[in-house]
Amino acid sequence: MSEHQKETDAISGVETTGHDWDGIKELNNPAPRWWLLVLYASIIWAIGYWVVYPAWPTLSGEGVRGGTEGSFGWTQYEQLKESQGEIVARKAAYLTRFENASFADIQKDEGLYEFAQAGGAAAFKDNCATCHGTGGAGGNGYPNLNDDDWLWGGSVDAIYQTIRFGIRSGDDEARFSEMPAFGDMLSADEISAIASFVVQDGTDDGAGAQAFADNCAACHGDTGTGMHELGAPNLMDAIWFYGGTKADVMAQIRKPRHGVMPAWEHRLDANTIRELAIYVHALGGGE
Ligand code: HEC
Ligand code: HEC
Repeated sequence: MSEHQKETDAISGVETTGHDWDGIKELNNPAPRWWLLVLYASIIWAIGYWVVYPAWPTLSGEGVRGGTEGSFGWTQYEQLKESQGEIVARKAAYLTRFENASFADIQKDEGLYEFAQAGGAAAFKDNCATCHGTGGAGGNGYPNLNDDDWLWGGSVDAIYQTIRFGIRSGDDEARFSEMPAFGDMLSADEISAIASFVVQDGTDDGAGAQAFADNCAACHGDTGTGMHELGAPNLMDAIWFYGGTKADVMAQIRKPRHGVMPAWEHRLDANTIRELAIYVHALGGGE
């Protein structure tokens, strides 16, 4: 680029600026009026914006985070607080409704039900997953809460009571029962025969069934399908929580284990326990 003399362009009749790039010359046309108007309007807008909204950093640290405050007093922090306040208020409204609704009401109300499920799922991860597994699938000695097989009953009310007071937890209201140790009461042959009957390995000639009726039916039921009132499991299904081999069953007959589920009444608030009951009930597909 080189500086040339200003001259009048022969074709357009407009004066040139004198700038010249390899023979290409720049005409000294004024900027279009609409463009100028937009430019000035933008400047005025920007000044107005600086005045009413927080804009410039200041050395004095005046205003929020050391910037000009703006005459509207608007800040993103305020906006965040407001929207969070809305969420908290909405949650509080749900909680009040939840507190006053029966389990039946909650199950009929989609919004409340979802609210309870979400709360229950979170509380389950925090408090129950250590023993029952993240998805409630259980493990040896810890019952599976996903299936439709319940020791103590699978209605929401039954589950609520189990969670609140626990099982053999030492709480006064806890669910309690104890399978006796038959190791000293029955002979080894009897124990073996009963176990054969229970696991249905086809070797029981009737003695096992008879001994079962005499010793076990009081808790596990005449047909061995269990009794919720006593927390006695169904022995005729394929679901075992101490194992389903003949050796496992014989071990349980000789020296039974007595599973302990803690009481949550004093560790979790009433609403959380109710949310958990609804969540666990839904896991097992209800009963
Ligand atoms: C320390 C381990 C442990 C923790 C933690 C625990 N449980 Fe349990 N839970 C057990 C055991 C063991 C049983 C089985 C007790 C039995 O033998 O009857 C059980 C049984 C249950 C049952 C009864 C199942 C049925 O078939 O009737 C429910 C419901 C239950 N737990 C829910 C929960 C919930 C909800 C939590 C979290 C608040 C929780 N548990 C935390 C160990 C635990
Ligand atoms: C007083 C009631 C009672 C009597 C009588 C009783 N049981 Fe039990 N049984 C239970 C309870 C309660 C449990 C669950 C134990 C637990 O939750 O830890 C259980 C658990 C079992 C289990 C474990 C099931 C599993 O899923 O792992 C087997 C097997 C069993 N009983 C067999 C028998 C046999 C066989 C007899 C008779 C010789 C018998 N029980 C007598 C109450 C009883």
